[in-house]
Amino acid sequence: MSEAFVGSRVDHDDHSSNPSENEAFQDVLERRLTRRGILRSGGVVAAAGFFGTAMNGTADAATKAAGAGGDRAASAGKHRSLLGFKAVPTSTADAVSVPEGYTAQVLIPWGTPLRSGGPAWKKDASNTAAEQEQQIGMHHDGMHYFPLGHDGNTGLLAVNHEYVDTTLLYPDGSATMTQAKVDKGMAAHGVSVIKISKHGDRWQPADSKYNRRVTGNTPVDFSGPVRADHPALKAKGPAKGTINNCSSGYTPWGTYVTCEENWNNYFGTTDASWTPDAEQKRYGVVKEGGGYNYHLADPRFDIAVNPNEANRFGWVVEIDPFNPRSTPTKRTALGRFKHESATVTESRGRVVVYTGDDQDGEYVYKYVSSEPWRKLKARGKSPLDHGTLYVAKFNDDGSGTWLPLTFGKGPLTAANGWKDQADVLLRTRTAADALGATKLDRAEWAAVNPTNQDVYLSLTNGVGNGGKINPRKPNRYGHIIRWREKHGDNTALTFDWDIFVLAGDPAYDPQVKLGPDNIFGSPDGLGFDKAGRLWIETDISNSSQNMPSKGYDHIANCALLAADPRTGDIRRFLVGPRGCEITGFTITPDQRTLFINIQHPGEASASWGAPTPDNPRAVSNWPDFDPAGRARSATIAIRREDGGVIGT
Ligand code: FEO
Ligand code: CA
Ligand code: CA
Repeated sequence: MSEAFVGSRVDHDDHSSNPSENEAFQDVLERRLTRRGILRSGGVVAAAGFFGTAMNGTADAATKAAGAGGDRAASAGKHRSLLGFKAVPTSTADAVSVPEGYTAQVLIPWGTPLRSGGPAWKKDASNTAAEQEQQIGMHHDGMHYFPLGHDGNTGLLAVNHEYVDTTLLYPDGSATMTQAKVDKGMAAHGVSVIKISKHGDRWQPADSKYNRRVTGNTPVDFSGPVRADHPALKAKGPAKGTINNCSSGYTPWGTYVTCEENWNNYFGTTDASWTPDAEQKRYGVVKEGGGYNYHLADPRFDIAVNPNEANRFGWVVEIDPFNPRSTPTKRTALGRFKHESATVTESRGRVVVYTGDDQDGEYVYKYVSSEPWRKLKARGKSPLDHGTLYVAKFNDDGSGTWLPLTFGKGPLTAANGWKDQADVLLRTRTAADALGATKLDRAEWAAVNPTNQDVYLSLTNGVGNGGKINPRKPNRYGHIIRWREKHGDNTALTFDWDIFVLAGDPAYDPQVKLGPDNIFGSPDGLGFDKAGRLWIETDISNSSQNMPSKGYDHIANCALLAADPRTGDIRRFLVGPRGCEITGFTITPDQRTLFINIQHPGEASASWGAPTPDNPRAVSNWPDFDPAGRARSATIAIRREDGGVIGT
């Protein structure tokens, strides 16, 4: 979701809750540039480009790269761009636009029945909680396509439903809460697994034994160092549910991993005497809650009466889409924070999971399994339960270090008040503070380039932290960084880092070298296709980054862009409807259908007050264009009219 909104009030994720004195990425970068004796005004992007390839989307990117030096500089100019489509212009239309020769089809919008004959979606939002539980949830986010069979025409789509918008979910559109409304809210959260098939050129949902909803009320299990019977997880009733499922990942053994992001916003209390303890404060739990108001109707979410319920969230959850009776399992070895992305790759047979913490001033982590994953699986162990979690420290010489969050190591000792590994994981943020990790500008998705194992990470923006943690002050528009692990081995404990692109409106920041074909802001979703194209999705919708009153109005609606990391070429591939965010990325193995999600078209909230020129309350009727209906998040399937490979 955009950083400005949850439920019906302003979110806290663009404000730091990190009290540590740990260094900010901004300061590390400044020193790095000073060391190299390069003035920032000379072009931070090219200067930082130690990888030697072009660092942004300018037309002369390859030329610049050659001037930047580095091992791949000379080759950057030789590559033919991977991008074979004509850029789509920016747009403020309430529509999806794709390049010439492409089509985009709407699939499984919010409320679609999970099975034929299931409860139909009602445009007045009068569906009950029980009906919603049998329908596709709200506000699609991360997803993955799991092929069924070998014909390339059938698969399972696992889709996250990140949050609910009270103005759309309920007929009265209000955040005045009742138990029935909480129940419907829970039913609209979580994950959908649904079979889809392609007939001719069109995809459609299909009935299958795999079709399933996981919601905020589905029974869940815990695995790894924090088990279900851990005292910190003892709360009213058995553990259930996953909420605020933002980004996602998938494992080489065919499961889906979904990330619990802004879970703190679901908790609050009317108990005037309640004050947050140090850990609740560190995770941003506040008395008034984050706008859902569930705590006003359901004691489950009252932080004063049921405090340990909050410890059951903030995890990465594994779901087996091929076993509809399986219990979703929270993999606690991956830590507890506001997980954004769980990007799994393999190196030397081990699994490596990159996962960011999306709040201003938080960190990026990676998990490495203790042994090759096949060996662990052969012994009946989960590769996500046995391994080490690390947090990143960026150094000003362009290197970086992965610091282990291991009980007994470094400062994480009994003498310093740490009890055991479960304690370290329950308090991941505090442990990472103690290790001296580097503060970032809201880490969103990570993606690994399949051609060379380089890792890319979106840092979406840093508005709330006074612009401290970034190469620009304030950082309205974000940037994408990347790193190469030592010897290209993703299990390594050191890396070299670089800035791939500074996003934004050049009218605001002249360091930005983006033009009409590729201007974008607030990168969020990232994904690679097989050929090594990097796909970039934006979440700039109703946030404050578009500011027509100041002339920063060139970016318009959120977009999907493709980049060629070898040449630095970036081109806009798709523009979404008004007020939406583009998210979710998965592509069929034949590379001929790309699925993305249109999240929160027409995003709005009563609490935002009267429209202003800089926050005009984008109105959308997408995808139904029914004036009496309501905008709906949906997946879209993008194909080439000639059936060819996407992006070429
Ligand atoms: Fe849910 Fe950080 O985006
Ligand atoms: Ca975002
Ligand atoms: Ca996101």
